[in-house]
Parts: sequence; C-alpha cells; structure tokens
Amino acid sequence: MTIDILFKGGKVVTDSSAFKADVAVSGGKIIAIGAALKPGADTEVVDCKGKLVLPGAIDAHTHLAMPFGGTISADDYETGTRAAACGGTTTVFDFILQDFDETFPDAIRRRNAIAETQAVVDYSFHIGVKDIHGDLLSTMEDAVKMGVPSFKVFMVYDFGVTDGVFYQTLEHAKGIGALVGVHAENNDLVNFLTNKYISEKKTSAWYHYLSRPEFVEGEADVRAIQWAKAAGAPLYIVHLANKQGMDAVTRARDEGYPIFAETCPHYLHFTSDVYKRPDGRNFVCSPPIKGKESQKALWDGIARGDIAAVATDHCPFKKSEKNWGKNDFRKIPNGCAGIENLYPYILSEANKGRISFNKAVELCATNVAKIFGLAHKKGAIAVGLDADIVVYDPKARFTITNKGMHGATDHTIWEGAALKGYPERTYSRGRLVFKEGKFLGAKGTGEFVACKPIRLTSPDLRNL
Ligand code: URP
Ligand code: ZN
Ligand code: ZN
Repeated sequence: MTIDILFKGGKVVTDSSAFKADVAVSGGKIIAIGAALKPGADTEVVDCKGKLVLPGAIDAHTHLAMPFGGTISADDYETGTRAAACGGTTTVFDFILQDFDETFPDAIRRRNAIAETQAVVDYSFHIGVKDIHGDLLSTMEDAVKMGVPSFKVFMVYDFGVTDGVFYQTLEHAKGIGALVGVHAENNDLVNFLTNKYISEKKTSAWYHYLSRPEFVEGEADVRAIQWAKAAGAPLYIVHLANKQGMDAVTRARDEGYPIFAETCPHYLHFTSDVYKRPDGRNFVCSPPIKGKESQKALWDGIARGDIAAVATDHCPFKKSEKNWGKNDFRKIPNGCAGIENLYPYILSEANKGRISFNKAVELCATNVAKIFGLAHKKGAIAVGLDADIVVYDPKARFTITNKGMHGATDHTIWEGAALKGYPERTYSRGRLVFKEGKFLGAKGTGEFVACKPIRLTSPDLRNL
C-alpha cells in the first residue's frame, strides 16, 4: 500500500505507553507504526522530531447552534468544529435537543441535515431526552441502529425530566445497548434559592453560584447514581463539578457499578471566585464552577481514575447576550466557550507535570471512544484507526486570547491563560486541517460517525 503521509521521528503517545516511532497513513487510515518506516516517492514526510504524535481529541460534550437561554449558542457546526480542529479536537459529540413529540430518529435527521453540510471535523451525537410519552421511548432502538446510542436527561431547566422519566429511560436504555448521561442538579432547590435571592434583590452572577451551590449538584448526583444502580444500568454523569458527587461516583465505582464521570477544563482551572469579578456573568454556566475543595476533589478523581473523561460543555454566548443578565442572573444564558481549549489545556497540565501525557490522551480521546462506542474508528494511534492525528510541540508557549481563537465568539473566559506546549498540526482522517495557528480545513468535510451499541457492565474501561 502506498503511504500518503509519514509522521517521522516523533514520540507516539497512547493512553498506556509512549515510544519513538514513525506513523504511516494511507487513505485516511493509520496503516503502520514502527521504527524507520520508508516513505514512497509520493509520500509527504512530516518531521516530528522533538514532537509528540497524539490521537486527536474527542470532545464528548458540545452544544453547537443550540436554542437555549432565549437565544442560540454562538458557534454553529462550521465555526465550532473549526475551532475544535485548531485545538487538536478531531471529533465532537454534539447534543441534539429532542423536540416535544419528536421521535429520536427524526431528531437525528433534523440535526444531521445541518451538521453534514457544515462540519469540518467528524462528529456524532447525544440526544437530550425531553419527551418519552406514547411510543417515543421505543424509538430509542432506532436511534441506536442509526449509530446514536447515547442519550442525556436533564434534571434541571424548563425541559428537565422527572425522576420517573429518568428511571424509565435508564431501564429502557440498558436492554438496547444505549447509555444515559445526566445533568445532575436539584431543580426544586435551584428554583427555591433563585427566588429567595431575587426577592432579596441579590441579582449578580455570584448569586447564580449561590443558587446552585455544592449540595444542589451533590444531592442530584447521589440520586442519579441511586436510580442507575436500581435500574441496573450504566450511567455517565456529564460536567461533574462538585466534591460530594465525586465522592459518590468513587463509592459506586468501588462497589463495581458502571458509573462514569466527565468533568470540564473550567472546573479544573477556575474556582467560584470568578463570579465575584465584574465580568462574572461571562463565567455563568450550570452547574456553576465550584470552590477550591471541589476542584481538588476533581483533580484527585482524575488521579484515581474515577473521572473517565474531560470534555468542554462548549456552549458559547456573545458578550451582549451575557449582558442581558447584568442586573439579573436569571437572564444570563448559561454556558461558556471552550472547544478550542480542551486538549491544549489538559496537555499543558501534563506538560507542567500535573498528570502524565498518557492520562491526557486517556481522558480526552481513548476513554471517550470506548465509552461511546467509537473505539473501532477513533481515540488512539493504532493501525486500522482513522488518521486523526495531532502533532504536539511541547516546547511551544501559548497564551489564550479570543483573538487567537477560531470560533465565532467575541470573548473567552480563558483570556490570558498561559499554556506550556501547543498543537502544531491537526489531521482529520489524514487531511491537514490546522497548521501553526492557521485553519486549513473546509466546510462540509466532517462526517457523521456511527457509534456501536454501548454495553458497559463494569467501571473498568481497560479491556474494552
Ligand atoms: O451552562 C451550561 N452547561 N450550558 C449548556 C447546557 C448544559 O447544561 O449542558
Ligand atoms: Zn448540562
Ligand atoms: Zn452541556
């Protein structure tokens, strides 16, 4: 087979090893990994000396062009995936919000019609469940057959589900190879505390945090785990941000339950103090960023292996939209940009010595592929997989500015953050989509990736 691209002389990093090797790519796939591989006459040779050769990240949690908070999130499939590519992310899992009375396959078709014309890197979906009345629940099977076996229930927001619907969804999912994810916060408490602060004229972003404090999320995590255990179903907790929940996840996993937790870079980097800043509303997301103790619990969870994935929850809103809530935190659209910062931030933390590069790859790529049924195509540097490859320069220095980002947002909560190391190139199925700060991809070249049915029966992902 002719070699199209040869990544020469770099250090290949997987979730469990790191070794000097060349990587050969043909037809968009990795076809060989080994010492001193020979290029053909037409092979493009990429000099990777002094560089790391990594699998592209898989962002398990994005909201692109999502109607939410009285507006639509600022990045669509084109601008969002463009930013992803420039941060070394080669696959995104976007959330489809089911419409009321809509079957799950119809929801997939509705969103894929947009995504397939816009995406610049590959993508798949989770479905946000709003309505399971009548025969709608049974249409989950058809979604699984279409390659979308992942569903999310929200315990909050005006479209959040009751515990009964959550439990029914879990029970149904386990028999058909589907996985349920959950946004866990106690809705009644959020409503009570919100009304209390508003009636006391406490309206700044700090009171968004105080209306959704640690225990509001922690209680819901404990409850969600309880329903998953009772239903005998695996569970994926999205954007975990608090210590009580982290402890509950650890306990359940120690007991042998297939409970998986995702956290986000903003919970690992910032603390709730940001809500005291004059621009605190720009950091408003749900669950809100918590205190130092919770942040430490999340890093400890990563070290123990009890955080399975780090994803962005990318849901950006323009400054003017965030400003709607200047004098009333209820009017701030919830969510922040982060899609371009995931891999650079986590890899920088590895480069600074906080975690290993293997751990960074595991959290941002390999585990995500394993959990969501994508490991047959993505998530590792391995023969036969898609050539989704990042060439990473550990010596580069990068300061995040909104000007240097490639999405459609006009501000970033990461402004001024200093990173050690940065992606130099990103390849999506062997196509160069990012090089030295410049986007080189093209609209509509990203493809929908069908996931396999998900059957997680233990907390251990190592043998999957
Ligand atoms: O504030 C957030 N996280 N916005 C996006 C929607 C969600 O809850 O994931
Ligand atoms: Zn959420
Ligand atoms: Zn989200």
